[in-house]
Amino acid sequence: MTCVLITGATSGIGLQLATDYAKEGWSVLACGRNQSQLDELAIQYPNITHVAFDVTDAEQVHTSFRDLPHFPDLWLLNAGTCEYIENGEMDSTLVKRVMDVNFYGMLHCIEALQSLLRHGDHVAVVSSIAGEMVLPKSQAYGASKAAISYVMNVQAAEWAQQGISTSIVYPGFVKTPLTDKNTFDMPMMIPVEEASVKIRKQLAKRKSHIYVPWIFTAIVRFIALFPYAWQQKLVRKLIKSEGEQS
Ligand SMILES: NC(=O)c1ccc[n+]([C@@H]2O[C@H](COP(=O)([O-])OP(=O)(O)OC[C@H]3O[C@@H](n4cnc5c(N)ncnc54)[C@H](OP(=O)(O)O)[C@@H]3O)[C@@H](O)[C@H]2O)c1
Repeated sequence: MTCVLITGATSGIGLQLATDYAKEGWSVLACGRNQSQLDELAIQYPNITHVAFDVTDAEQVHTSFRDLPHFPDLWLLNAGTCEYIENGEMDSTLVKRVMDVNFYGMLHCIEALQSLLRHGDHVAVVSSIAGEMVLPKSQAYGASKAAISYVMNVQAAEWAQQGISTSIVYPGFVKTPLTDKNTFDMPMMIPVEEASVKIRKQLAKRKSHIYVPWIFTAIVRFIALFPYAWQQKLVRKLIKSEGEQS
């Protein structure tokens, strides 16, 4: 039976991926901190095993990966958080909180799994299209996602020498508890079920870069080609129009 380990499997994209892989007959190692949600998953699906740890704690991640009951063919590093900087007021504590999960949490996982990898294995990281262009309020979130995408793009080249495949997933807006907190317009948002179908389809093909949904992320990538001065102008307009609406 093929095995997938998913971090952040207690909610949103990770939860949907975990249940969909389980329904397809995969053996699923579902990770997160929410023990009751993990217990519920394991009761509902006999092929889901739960592994509880906090990605910000390097020791917990190392111990959990070392003692896994099954060996994953696919490592899907998805756990993440989002907080915004309001009114341009820099808050380094907030930035550290976001970096701790989205950047260092991912690094802890990559560090812990690297000695376990075998030729033919597949490692996927869920980043965000928000890391690709200048966006309002996204000093913390955008930076954390840009940083992990950068690391994975280099790591991918290193691992390719050892026959390890990598994928970086760049979601646009997906309806989950994370986006439910947002008060601004989220263009072309897709349901989590659709995101899971698209992500799993492209992971099966071992695509190195996965953009979901395609049209919205293509627009963002096109804007990201503009000079930074133009991107800043666009952000100024977005901030101004949000101010006028509120
Ligand atoms: N939704 C979107 O529109 C969107 C867009 C772009 C990128 N993404 C990325 O997609 C990923 C999943 O997002 P989502 O929308 O599904 O969010 P979500 O519903 O809030 O789920 C986040 C998951 O991450 C886990 N997590 C958070 N902090 C953790 C920690 N310290 N240790 C272990 N697990 C932790 C949570 O589990 P516990 O609480 O049980 O620990 C939860 O299962 C994130 O990396 C996010 O940045 C989402």
